Amino acid sequence: IPVDPFDLVIFGATGDLARRKILPALFRRVMAGQAPNGSRIIGASRSDLDNAAFQKLTKEAIHEFVPKSDYKSADLDGFLAMLSYQTIDAFSDAGWGELASALQKGANPVRAFYLSVSPSLITSTTQHMKAFDLITPETRVVVEKPLGTDLASAKALNETLRDAFDESQIYRIDHYLGKETVQNLMALRFANIFLEPLWNAKYVDHVQITVAESVTVEGRGEYYDTSGAMRDMIQNHLMQLLCLVAMEPPAHFEADSVRNEKLKVIHALSPVDIRDTVRAQYRASDKTGSYLDHVNDPHSRTESYVAIKTEVSNWRWAGVPFYLRTGKALKKRVSEITLIFKQVPHSIFPDLADDYQNKLVIRLQPEEGITLHMTVKEPGPGGMRLTEVPLDMSFAEIIPDNVAIDAYERLIMDAIRGNQTLFMRGDEVEAAWGWTDHIIEQWNASSSKPVTYDQGSTGPEDAIALMARDNRRWQRLD
Ligand code: BG6
Repeated sequence: IPVDPFDLVIFGATGDLARRKILPALFRRVMAGQAPNGSRIIGASRSDLDNAAFQKLTKEAIHEFVPKSDYKSADLDGFLAMLSYQTIDAFSDAGWGELASALQKGANPVRAFYLSVSPSLITSTTQHMKAFDLITPETRVVVEKPLGTDLASAKALNETLRDAFDESQIYRIDHYLGKETVQNLMALRFANIFLEPLWNAKYVDHVQITVAESVTVEGRGEYYDTSGAMRDMIQNHLMQLLCLVAMEPPAHFEADSVRNEKLKVIHALSPVDIRDTVRAQYRASDKTGSYLDHVNDPHSRTESYVAIKTEVSNWRWAGVPFYLRTGKALKKRVSEITLIFKQVPHSIFPDLADDYQNKLVIRLQPEEGITLHMTVKEPGPGGMRLTEVPLDMSFAEIIPDNVAIDAYERLIMDAIRGNQTLFMRGDEVEAAWGWTDHIIEQWNASSSKPVTYDQGSTGPEDAIALMARDNRRWQRLD
């Protein structure tokens, strides 16, 4: 889908996110021919660089984060030629006038700002953008987590943003919404008729949402310890996935239609009792230290793992538990959503296990795809023997390599294009904080400490017990 020529300013352009994600994503989209001639990318930050130094830094980032086989050196030269740089200071007027005149000279129809800066800089940055008249009606602003650390700070951030921009100009990124399979979940649900009659409490026994990671927090313990799995993953990524599974069909595939339906899901979530949560920290392994060794505070109670049982209390889902789990230092990197269906009401086959349940697995990573587990007759003359087979749709097999795109590529281009469908609205973010705050407050008030789990395991015993209490089991992590 074409975009209009744009000017994109990246605040915090020398930071880690810009180097790892934003600049490589832009490079790939430019290579794919998505940046019309004359489009410009302007890096801005406090570092005292000139254009050439910023181009050099970007070149190094591309060398580091984009495989050499994906591009030719002429592609990179073309991309670097789009880049310029302006030193600015968020806390003074230094550099802002120059940025304003650079933008004015040969201004392109679309103007976008990417606020890749720490939360403490957002207010002063947006105030300067306003004061120096950088914001036009065609301006979009992209912001990223942390979008607050609780409801109060999320409200304050929304107020700051809305003081300078209209809600229709604000693009809040949750990179999970940019993942291919997440959008496929919407296609699966709303472009096919056969699942909808089953997509409710009458046929679904329960839903599991897992985002497991094998990495520890070593090296980023300082940030992570102020956040924990609840703020880092549940409040945003897992809640968004839950919303997409549970929401009613929107009237249109359009930003506010979709976001209104997601918001209704968050509002329908039952407040979670602390007994329906498990928080845990990983133990030391032979190779590396424990969670407490990887953060500065030896008494930290921050969780590197969370499991939660919740319910969407509405007509469609009443009585269907949604089990969420996420953690670091687990057995495998797996993100998937599983719907476990109820048993058949009456089995006519002695061979059908009493507890057999169909499953629909939506895999976000590592191998993106959708699998329906169903029972069929074992082929051959052996009588009426049953066996489970996966009806498997692997994206790797059907999508040629050259069209697969990373979440950041999709989201940045959507922001430039002016399509907010895959971005969170302010009220959604606040509602999600309201729900997670309730759990965090109970944890803080409790005298109990996080339990522990082995690195490389599937999580703590207590999480297994959370399921076992309901006669259920987590999906295997392999
Ligand atoms: C980020 C979290 O938002 O998502 C990280 O801050 C986490 O802690 C990452 O590792 C996971 O993203 P992905 O796309 O690798 O699953």
